[in-house]
Amino acid sequence: MKIPLDRQSTEPVYLQIRDRISRLIRGGSLQPGDRLPSIRTLAETAQVNKLTVIEAYGVLEADGLIHARPGAGYFVNAEVTPSPKLNSTFAPAQEVIIPSDQTESFFDLYAMSAQVRQQPGAIDFSRGIPRVDGLNDLQRIARRAVGQMPGDLFRYDFPQGQTNLRKQIAQMLVQQGLDVSPEHLIITTGSMQGISLALQHYIQPGDWVIVESPTFHGALAVLEELGARVIGIPMAREGMNLDLLEQYLRSHHPKLIYTISTLHNPTGLTTSLAHRQQLLALAEHYNCQILEDNAYEGLNVEAVPAPIKALDCHDRVVYLGTFSKTLSPGLRIGYMVVTGDHYSPLLKRKVLCDLHSSAISQAIVSEYLASGHYRRHLNRGRSSNLQSRNVMLQALEQHFPQEASWTIPNGGLFLWVHLPADLNVQSVCQQALVQNVLVSSGSPFFLDQQGYPAMRLSFSHSPEDIERGLAVLGHLIKEQLIRPQPMLSQLKPLEAQTRSA
Ligand SMILES: Cc1ncc(COP(=O)(O)O)c(C=O)c1O
Repeated sequence: MKIPLDRQSTEPVYLQIRDRISRLIRGGSLQPGDRLPSIRTLAETAQVNKLTVIEAYGVLEADGLIHARPGAGYFVNAEVTPSPKLNSTFAPAQEVIIPSDQTESFFDLYAMSAQVRQQPGAIDFSRGIPRVDGLNDLQRIARRAVGQMPGDLFRYDFPQGQTNLRKQIAQMLVQQGLDVSPEHLIITTGSMQGISLALQHYIQPGDWVIVESPTFHGALAVLEELGARVIGIPMAREGMNLDLLEQYLRSHHPKLIYTISTLHNPTGLTTSLAHRQQLLALAEHYNCQILEDNAYEGLNVEAVPAPIKALDCHDRVVYLGTFSKTLSPGLRIGYMVVTGDHYSPLLKRKVLCDLHSSAISQAIVSEYLASGHYRRHLNRGRSSNLQSRNVMLQALEQHFPQEASWTIPNGGLFLWVHLPADLNVQSVCQQALVQNVLVSSGSPFFLDQQGYPAMRLSFSHSPEDIERGLAVLGHLIKEQLIRPQPMLSQLKPLEAQTRSA
């Protein structure tokens, strides 16, 4: 089999192989039951590493196109799963809604999610965490890491984090296009701590801060605590609306822009290189800092542009990353990339907060990275997330009303559903909970819980749970649309949201 490869392309080689074989199967050139070349043969003919072929076959398997038979090789599936419609119809009018008095907060949701997870048979679409696959590897490596830990790591550790781990993370970030050395890194206790430290450092009560609307509700909670005045710039398919951004940069002189440029929470959208360049140019022009929180970086299926931090020549961007979404949230290991004069004051804040992040967790992550398992683990996670995303897209098409539209994220853990204007989403969520399905309405991701009716749905679940849970949600939504609830909302035309402390 000949696979033409473009080695200059930004598309990874394993995806080029996947695309080519996928076309051959869907076009009928490869028939159900046909055997694919062995991993070694294809690696030789395409002149690629065997691991690249394994990755390509892994994604094709996740796409439902091929399967492995132990000892016999890979074969085309008898029944190819129809691919979901991949052109997103997501195009919400950016309207402001006066909130109902039954609102949810970050804290309520977090507590409720932890509680519901204890109930047998519960399906929790509200959480943005990975499925616990590959736990055996992690347990084995954790035992080894702790067993090998030198005695001094059981004492107090460096505030900026262990040198070895910082070196490994710097190497990983260089591959993402960031020019980073270990001296630019501070290991944090999850990226939640990075958000808190950076915002405490840059923001005084009463300062204006710009966020995407919607955005990560954890960051909104920190901003509220700090007494910041927040402007929510509507988020479209391309990212934050840059015309509106410039308008508010000019009129309000905000101190900071908080952005999630890759696999945005909650929409799952990723901005283009051009959008990143323009956003940075605007921040430069209006003398504003950027906090780039890419918690889901690494979970992308197709290539993504380098982070905004990679374009930053004037120390204007602080970049946050985490192992919570790729490896384990319980380890609580994140990191911040800080260049220039802000490094020392941020490190001081870190010391005042918790002295240093867990030495044991750092040693486990470091050992995991050193073992070479991380790359394989990421690839497995990407394939299984892609498969789950596709199952969810099909279930949405099957069960949700036609008026609903949704984003089609390039990987990650969740997607965002824009629901009909007259739907009482809170009431749907409450009724779903009675049927053991936990879902987060869109409101906590908007300032003051305003915004258009929406839901964030995590797809890191088994196909059976996705199918069952979405059938419940779709039924409740359709039922409510037939028998409408009292209107909670009053619509206003497109504008940015602002919230004062
Ligand atoms: C955008 C974003 N930033 C930060 C976090 C916090 O992650 P961590 O577990 O690393 O603190 C989350 C968690 O959901 C998130 O979605």
